[in-house]
Amino acid sequence: MNTQSSERGVWSSKLGFILAGAGSAIGLGNIWRFPTTAGQYGGGAFVAVYLVSIALICLAVMIAELTLGRHTLRNPVGAYNELAPRSSWKYLGLLGVITGWGISSFYSVVAGWTLGYIFKTVTGVFTDLGPAEIESVFVAFTSNPVASIGCHAVFMTLTMLILYGGVKAGIEKWSKILMPVLLVILVLLVIRSVTLEGAAEGLAFYIKPNWGNLTGEGVVAAVGQAFFSLSLGMGTMITYGSYLSKKENLVSSAVWVASLDTLIALLAGFAIMPAIFAFGLDPAKGAGLIFVVLPNVFNKIFLGNLFGTGFFVLLAVAAVTSLISIVEVPAAYFIDEKKMSRKKAVTISGLGAFLVGIPAALSLGSVDSLTNLVQIRGKSQGFLDLMNIIFGQYSLIIGSLGVAVFVGWKWGVAKANAEIAEGHPKYSAQAVFAFFIRFVAPIAVAALLICLILFPDAF
Ligand code: PHE
Repeated sequence: MNTQSSERGVWSSKLGFILAGAGSAIGLGNIWRFPTTAGQYGGGAFVAVYLVSIALICLAVMIAELTLGRHTLRNPVGAYNELAPRSSWKYLGLLGVITGWGISSFYSVVAGWTLGYIFKTVTGVFTDLGPAEIESVFVAFTSNPVASIGCHAVFMTLTMLILYGGVKAGIEKWSKILMPVLLVILVLLVIRSVTLEGAAEGLAFYIKPNWGNLTGEGVVAAVGQAFFSLSLGMGTMITYGSYLSKKENLVSSAVWVASLDTLIALLAGFAIMPAIFAFGLDPAKGAGLIFVVLPNVFNKIFLGNLFGTGFFVLLAVAAVTSLISIVEVPAAYFIDEKKMSRKKAVTISGLGAFLVGIPAALSLGSVDSLTNLVQIRGKSQGFLDLMNIIFGQYSLIIGSLGVAVFVGWKWGVAKANAEIAEGHPKYSAQAVFAFFIRFVAPIAVAALLICLILFPDAF
């Protein structure tokens, strides 16, 4: 039954996939979440754990997800159902579908902030403001329920409109054009940021691992960030792999996507960290960090408003190409498994995520009980923070462990390797892939989860 139904689709070329895959991977995860989390968990040591996770765990998991998708031509639930019929593995796929819905809810809220910031930079709101005033602009914006829910609504609507167009017309076209421009503005920001007076302290914080700063919680956050940034653990890459043609080389596609994604995240760190210290801001500020830091940097750049506007436009585009890949997971599930039309599937997935996003949008000052929802280790966390930790961190870690165990031990590396070899005639790294997907990735992730259970105090 491995045929493409008319509601599905296929990438037009390998470059098309790499750009769409990179479009999924590169987004708020790199530019908003990576510096924010690195700042909260101690800088350099966090970055080191993040990089090691990508090399040792994520690359193999990414290849595994793409392989599952291309082999079955299915959404995550369908993929597990086909390869392990009548087993509990389908719940792993279902976890991915639920995670997609959980992540898309708060993702759209933060993406909505970028829309607000396009407007603010265009109208020159930040010109002549100092760091403290720039911070109060952010607070006033996010604690205004009409602004935050409104921007969230606009962003989700935009995403749904693109998804109605389907995979090729919708996703690929957008990713192709604007990613390179984002890279250029990012490099410019890095240059300005590292040459600010007082940048050295921030550079040291970012580059030099201070292992004393790293907590168990920080390790989990770093591994979780690696999965989040590469769009792994919830079936996005299974779904995207299912639109990939048999002729393509899965290994090199995965290496390309992972390298581009990591490059952008590292650059974002270089753009943010030095500036935090140069402007005397707090690296552990949380969700608002880049929205408070970057307008300060733009104020120090010639034609700053212009570059600032360009940056937030591109960040919005990067966010849209990621958000469509998140919403596509529940949508593909409804299309394949519930036989819905694309239109209905996208509407249900998008509206559902929009509704859960409302309390997230209200949790940055609008509603106090949502803003200070729980106390975790003395820090008060809001609804958005909590969704980010549960779905953006733990769910993805568990989902990725599941993928590694499934491909390594249940479906089997022989079959996975045969699928990989289809588009890769010179594929000779069978044993290396087998070693990483059967042992390194699952043992590392399982060890982390076991430590979490045995030594909760360290976390
Ligand atoms: N990787 C995306 C980003 O960095 C977010 C994402 C997470 C996309 C999980 C798909 C799945 O913005």
